[in-house]
Amino acid sequence: MEDTTLIQTTISFVKEKLKDAEGGHDWFHIERVYKNSLLIAKDEKCDLLIVQLGALLHDIADSKFHGGDENVGPETARTFLEGQGVDESTMVQVISIIENISFKGGNFEKKFDSIELQIVQDADRLDAIGAIGVARTFNYGGFKNRPIYNPDIQPVLNMSKDAYKNNTAPTLNHFYEKLLLLKDKMNTSTGKKLAQQRHEFMESFLSQFYAEWNGEK
Ligand code: ADP
Ligand code: NI
Repeated sequence: MEDTTLIQTTISFVKEKLKDAEGGHDWFHIERVYKNSLLIAKDEKCDLLIVQLGALLHDIADSKFHGGDENVGPETARTFLEGQGVDESTMVQVISIIENISFKGGNFEKKFDSIELQIVQDADRLDAIGAIGVARTFNYGGFKNRPIYNPDIQPVLNMSKDAYKNNTAPTLNHFYEKLLLLKDKMNTSTGKKLAQQRHEFMESFLSQFYAEWNGEK
């Protein structure tokens, strides 16, 4: 199959799969990650098809929305890619991206690495910070019926993967537990540059938030 046809088929598959997804993990999140991946890939030596498929399929069945099961995503992707006749080595690379992209507390050893994973991971992280990051985070908190903020509940750094997944803390804590840490975890030089500006926006959002919370003028 031509690469462009395969990409179009993958886009249709992902749109259909994610049609009822939570607002921060829907098709538009995938589309933004896809576009950011292409932007970052311009400055890297990489296999573009693996980057494209990895970006499009990276959240095809997020374990958060599948009872914690981390195998559904990779299995769904494999069944789909096999059905499209994608060669084994491309398929393995794409599935490795899906298996290794997630933050999950940031406190575990990466078992796999590739430039294609680094690109898609940076693109996914960029969509977790900045204005979009703020919007997605409060959307997710609302989806989980979490409080916006509670000054009595402190953020917890260096959580284990399980503690991170089972966290029920107020949404504002997520900024300290993940979002503000991402800038220093970026892999590529383009990713680092883009992250800096989005990071500063979040810092300014937080200082405005506290000023308003505390009734300051
Ligand atoms: P990861 O598993 O790598 O942390 P996620 O898919 O969980 O990636 O995170 C994507 C986005 O979902 C986050 O950047 C954030 O906007 C939202 N999100 C995830 N967990 C939480 C949480 N505990 N509180 C608020 N938002 C969250
Ligand atoms: Ni994602």
